[in-house]
Parts: sequence; structure tokens; C-alpha cells
Amino acid sequence: MANKFYITTPIYYVNASPHIGHSYTNIAADTLARYNRNLLGKDNVWFLTGTDEHGQKIQKAAEEAKLSTHEFVDKVVVQFKGLWKKLEISNDDFIRTTESRHIKTVQKALQIVYDKGDIYEDKYEGWYCTPCETFWPQTQITDKICPDCKRPLEKISETNFFFRLSKYQAWLIDYIKDTVKDPGRITYIQPSSRRNEVLGFLENNKLEDLCISRPKERLSWGIPLPFSQKHVTYVWFDALINYISAVGEFDSRNIYRSTWWDKDVRVVHLVGKDILRHHAIYWPIILEALGIRQPDTIFAHGWWMINEDKMSKSRGNAVNPVEMVDKFGIDVYRYFLLRDVPFGSDGNFSEEAIIKRFNGDLANDLGNLIYRTLTMVEKYYTGVIPELDIYKTKYDPSGENIKDKLKDLPREVCAALSPNNDFSQALAKIWECIGMANKYIEETKPWTLIKEGRQEELRAFIRLLVDAIRRIGEEIAPFMPKTAGSIFLQLGSKEIKKGSPLFPRIETEKK
Ligand code: ME8
Repeated sequence: MANKFYITTPIYYVNASPHIGHSYTNIAADTLARYNRNLLGKDNVWFLTGTDEHGQKIQKAAEEAKLSTHEFVDKVVVQFKGLWKKLEISNDDFIRTTESRHIKTVQKALQIVYDKGDIYEDKYEGWYCTPCETFWPQTQITDKICPDCKRPLEKISETNFFFRLSKYQAWLIDYIKDTVKDPGRITYIQPSSRRNEVLGFLENNKLEDLCISRPKERLSWGIPLPFSQKHVTYVWFDALINYISAVGEFDSRNIYRSTWWDKDVRVVHLVGKDILRHHAIYWPIILEALGIRQPDTIFAHGWWMINEDKMSKSRGNAVNPVEMVDKFGIDVYRYFLLRDVPFGSDGNFSEEAIIKRFNGDLANDLGNLIYRTLTMVEKYYTGVIPELDIYKTKYDPSGENIKDKLKDLPREVCAALSPNNDFSQALAKIWECIGMANKYIEETKPWTLIKEGRQEELRAFIRLLVDAIRRIGEEIAPFMPKTAGSIFLQLGSKEIKKGSPLFPRIETEKK
């Protein structure tokens, strides 16, 4: 089993400010990075994010902003870095495709593939979508409209360089099929419905070779091809390489070396379903052509929608994550995104939905449990947590059930997260425990224990709740780091430091 973990997010285009969709992938990756740091140790996890800064889209956005392309990307990248800081994203590195470490590796990779004969020069005539930077074969289009973004296609004719995707089609089909048979590799493309989609596509379509260059006269903002003065690199060939350029290098014999892309590392790419084709077809073939091992997982998550429409800058319905965090707090925002829909499915974003989760799961369930427990420690034991080993104490059936649940919880959370990255299910398991603890308070009625002088039972009862909250704090830490921190602060090792309620209810107008 791999004892190291390398997780990546897509590198985002810097043509516009980040929105909720972008923050979603980074929050998910951050949660997995934190979770794995707890399991494997801090030094055994590497978390990469970054920005995709070349290509026509960016060049156009800079022109519109009346800035030089360099100035423009430097300006927008600050927003991405600022947002990750604000969301307490714990990335270990941030790669920009305009950095020399990246450019050097892209050029080296191109040269290796070119020398191998897998890149050739040819004339291209056909349809092109500028916003998506994608060539479309005649067979895949109707009405000169981009099948992805539905905007008009342009007819172009030019000399370009092509990467022999077609040569690797049969290999890729076999590779994916092999991973299905092998329990250790079944997570190669996730969720499995997406894997079947990719396989279906590959089995029913002939892969066209990929145009990996753009003539400089049409686009100057890109990495120059090492074997042609007249061309720059197509932005997707450039961008995908970030996953290896950030963590390693090719040696003098053209062998790629990296401590984070090695046998003992579990390599996981999180992407939105919009870029699955690039990650599950182009990227595996680029790696194979370079003689580099495949990642362990390419997970395509769903989209955040606003009224049935994908949230995106170009559709004008983007919600700014900064506003949401200012309004609700980081952890509420993180919790909502991770809990409200299973990773892999689409979800509808609305403030009403956040408030519903807030008042229910956070204020009523978690917040109340902590507040009530701390109040009892304060009231009955002057703030000193009673000493007792819950595992040596015999409880009534409800108490015993909670003890069992506390023992099982780490395993349940682990089973939800690996291999399926099911954050929502993991949180649901933690909330089952919260629900049991709240019910236990209601059933036990501690005030009657006091009245009847049942001191031993009261101590055991309080101690079980304190232990439950501690375990809950440990388990929610990767998802809601700030909340976990404040739980541990309030619930010190011997004495409590009660603060105000963590999640005061948000009053909504009554209809
Ligand atoms: O595609 N819901 O960058 P990009 C959920 N530069 N996630 C969303 C989303 C939504 N409505 N909208 C965007 C690119 N995302 C390339 C990637 S990687 C080598 C190059 C997220 O700025 C999701 O992760 O268009 C999606 O894949 C990514 O943002 C696209 O970001």
C-alpha cells in the first residue's frame, strides 16, 4: 500500500476571478490532504494547486482589461492565492504555468515526445472553438456550434503540430479495462459511471490526433515549441504537465524523477466533470508517451448549478466565495459544499440551502451538543472535566451504543472517504454520532440524576459526552479545521474554557 499521498486540483484559468465552483475542488482536495496528513504524517502528503496562465482566453481577457498579459495574470493570480488563504486551504505548493520550472519541463516533454516520433507536422483545416481552445472534428459537430459551450465555431486552416493520440487508443482502452479487473487500481477513473463514459467514448469513436500547437501569428501568449520557431504550445498540453513539473524533473537520460510521482505514492487528481476528457484521455496518453506511470485516481466531481444552469463566469451567474465566507464563515461554507451533495453529483447552490444546513446540522445538532455539554461541566463540576475511563465503565444500552459508535467512527469515516471520496457520507456518519449524543442527553435527563443524588451516573454520563465531542472534533478536523480547533480549545484536557455558541441560529423571516 502507498504510504505517501499526492493530491492535485485543476490549475484554474486566470481570465476571471474565482467562483464557488473553483473553491469546491480546492476545499475537497484540502479535506483529503488534511485527512491523509492525519493518517500518514505531514511529511508524507503533498497538495498542489495553481493557475493556468497561457492561451487565447487569457490573452483576450488581458486585451479587454487593457493590460499587458504579464500584468494581467499577475493581478488575477493574487485573487486566487488570496481566496485559498481566506479558505485556509493548506496547499504545499502553488504552480503558475508562467514559471520557468514549468516552462522548462513542458519544453523537455515536447522534445521527448517529438524525438520519439509521436508529434508530427501537418496542415489542419476545420472547426475551432476559441473560448474552449478546442478543435472539433466534423463528425462531432452539428450546426457549427461548439458541443461543449454551445458557442459558434470558427473555420480555420493552418499548419500545426499533432500528437499521435490515435496510436495509443487501443492501449488506453486495455489499460482502463485492466484497472477494472484489479481491486488495487479500480479507482483509476472515478466515479465508475464516469469511467464507463470514458470507456464508451473510446470504444465507439476513433481518436483524432491532438493539435498541440498554435501559430504565433494567431496566439503569441504561450510556451514556444522547442522544435518550431513559428508555434507556441496548445494550452492543454502545457497545463496538464503542471502535475509533474511542480514535483520533479527529467534527468539527462529523459527519465522523469520525482519523490511525489513514485511507486510508493498514491497520486490523486480531482477535477470537475467538464475536464474529464482532458484528464482521462489526453493526460494518460501524454504520460504513457513520456514513459511515466499513471496516476492512481482521476476523480471527476459534479457541478454547482444555479437554477439548473452550471455556475460559470461566462454565464454571468458566478457567486463570489469571499462573500459567502464573510456572511457564513469558512467552516459553514466548507460544510455545506461537502455535505449537501455527494461528490460526483451536481448540486444546486443557494443561500437558503446553506441556512437550512446551518440551522439544522450546525446550530441545532453540533452547536447545541457542545454548548449543553460545556454548560453541564461548568454547572455541575465547576468547569473541571470529571476523570473516568468510559471503556471501563458499564453504561445503559444508549451509553454502550455511543461507546461502540465512537470506536467505529474513524473506520466509518475512512470507509466513506476511501476509495470513493464520499465526503457527504463521511459527514453523515459523524452526524449520526452527534445525533446519538443529543438523544442521550434528552433520555438521561441529567437534572433528575442530580435531584436523585446519582453522582456516579452523572460523572459517567458527562464524561461520555466529553469523549464523544473530542472524537467528533478529531473526525471533523479535516472538513472543518477551524471548528475542530475551537472545540479543542473549549474542551481543554482538564478544564473547559466555554465560549459563546459556535453556530448561533440564523433567524429567517417567518412566512
Ligand atoms: O478548465 N461546479 O480551468 P477553469 C463545480 N485551466 N466545479 C466547477 C464549476 C462548477 N460550476 N465551475 C468550475 C480549466 N469548476 C483548466 C484546467 S487542469 C490541467 C487545467 C471547477 O478555470 C472544476 O474543478 O475553467 C473545473 O474542473 C475547474 O473549476 C475548471 O476551471
